[in-house]
Amino acid sequence: MADITTDVLIIGTGPAGSAAAALLSSYGIENMAINRYRWLANTPRAHITNQRTMEVLRDLGQDVEAEAYLHCSPQAIMGENVFCASLSGEELGRLKTWGNHPNSKAEHLLSSPTEMNDLPQTLMEPLLFKTACSRGTQARMSTEYISHEQDAEGVTTTCRDRLTGRDFTVRSKYLVGADGGNSLVAQHIGLPFEGKMGVAGSMNIIFRADLTRYVAHRPSVLYWVLQPGSNVGGIGMGLVRMVRPWNEWLINWGYDINEGVPDVDNAFAEGVARDLIGDPDIDIEITSVSTWTVNNCYAARAHKGRVFCMGDAIHRHPPSNGLGSNTSIQDSFNLAWKLAMVIEGEAGPALLETYTDERAPVAKQIVTRANKSIEEFGPIFGALGLLDSIDPVKMQENMDRRCEDTPAAETQRAALRAAIAAKVYEFDAHGVEMNQRYRSSAVATDGQPEPAFARDPELHFEQTTWPGARLPHAWLFNDSNRKASTLDLCGHGKFTLLTGIGGRAWVEAADALSAELGLPITTHLIGPRQEWQDHYGDWARAREVGDAGVVLVRPDHHVAWRSEGMVASPEAELRRVLKSILDR
Ligand code: FDA
Repeated sequence: MADITTDVLIIGTGPAGSAAAALLSSYGIENMAINRYRWLANTPRAHITNQRTMEVLRDLGQDVEAEAYLHCSPQAIMGENVFCASLSGEELGRLKTWGNHPNSKAEHLLSSPTEMNDLPQTLMEPLLFKTACSRGTQARMSTEYISHEQDAEGVTTTCRDRLTGRDFTVRSKYLVGADGGNSLVAQHIGLPFEGKMGVAGSMNIIFRADLTRYVAHRPSVLYWVLQPGSNVGGIGMGLVRMVRPWNEWLINWGYDINEGVPDVDNAFAEGVARDLIGDPDIDIEITSVSTWTVNNCYAARAHKGRVFCMGDAIHRHPPSNGLGSNTSIQDSFNLAWKLAMVIEGEAGPALLETYTDERAPVAKQIVTRANKSIEEFGPIFGALGLLDSIDPVKMQENMDRRCEDTPAAETQRAALRAAIAAKVYEFDAHGVEMNQRYRSSAVATDGQPEPAFARDPELHFEQTTWPGARLPHAWLFNDSNRKASTLDLCGHGKFTLLTGIGGRAWVEAADALSAELGLPITTHLIGPRQEWQDHYGDWARAREVGDAGVVLVRPDHHVAWRSEGMVASPEAELRRVLKSILDR
């Protein structure tokens, strides 16, 4: 007999675990989350928060979304990505990033009701954790996962109370391993990993210093510093990252992993900070120093039976592109509604198999992209002539040469411009952030082929209602002039059916099936004099079905199925689709 019972036990209260707990509690599912430490993240690690993550927070509630905006550094001050010899030294180039280029800004505005922003992990985790606990999650800190055993009905997990040293057991229907990059849960279920851990060494130096005079005129979250040694290990280059404008900072500095972990005391850390800032007199207060390794590793399978892993437990990669915590939160958005529906008896267990089918390809994609982004610093070093020598004097001469009035210097300048511009794949890769299209049995085809991307799918998000894609965003209005995104009409743990004038039979079919299957389905009619009005015509242009057609949307905003127009028996058609998606 276990000491404690719950529906879902979550190991870890990082971005993945806290988001899973918050979503499950919002869906009314009993859950418990444990963390082996006494509190949440104590360093600001993740920060770039993309639109898709903000959509998850918005789904959790406008209060949650609003609090994120309250604490974040807004998008407008994120964007002047600077490459320089030191913060006080020569600037080598700049790139508008994170949706701040006017073209990219337009794409962001057209894609989502939310805004990208910079929210350090020290603020994101408490927000998600607080949301979870206030909605019913039982949280136990200083509690360590030790082992588990699963059987046909559930999972029995042994945990250790680190305050008393006593072990206790938790019996749950499902276990979620959101226990980070060294996941014991993933190890215990033998997830198959591809790639390599520990490919390069890096250190985080967190410090306070007022750098206003070096940065406020070119506001950014990232300042990349090219100095001798800055291409060794790490994430491609020396990095000074804004944590809070403009007096809290985090430096990423690499080390040669083959030489072992360097002795990173405060004196060493202050030396690195002074070199990158380039001002010997500035006041610096080092607040913490730690080392970590760059990984290039993803799980080809994300679950086994009743045990599911998410977040860094299944994708381990460098912070390039800012995808880690974002993808972790998005993993939980994919899994939480599936767990909820299976636990509530609204879906059969095969629905849970689709978690791996849908998220393992995302894990591979983001790990590959983040590591490729490191390699793409190479051409910047190459263009500056920094790969030809390790002698600082010779390196400086090579850099100086680009300012000469010679054909060779003109070629060098062009190469540097091109190399910096190519970093858009790391710093403004809207497609990488938003273009996930799922292929699994939790999506029903309408027989149409997947639409090809008209532009580079890593850089540009392209909206479609092709089943598996994230529902297009369009602003709609109701009679009280309330403005809502199509995404706002969906989610909250439920399936949603969107149709237009001529589609009333779909709404009636959904109501009948709701009762028959015991499955709440939200319905919305969009059109003139209807519940929601498409004044801009954006939804009509985006929906890819006719007025009498339908778009069925999953609780995670992905399109489950669509029909171009009305069919002979909408109820039979909808029943067929829902039963196949939900394993009923
Ligand atoms: P995470 O590691 O955060 O949490 C794991 C949890 O499990 C913790 O609560 C831990 O205590 C707990 N735990 C582990 N073992 C346990 C056990 N045996 N028992 C009980 N509890 C246990 N990402 C991003 O999206 N944007 C960004 O800008 C950046 N930037 C960035 C910069 C730097 C310098 C770093 C190092 C990393 C980033 N990241 C990032 C990555 C991001 O920090 C990372 O991907 C997320 O924290 C992963 O979240 P998880 O919840 O999966 O694991």
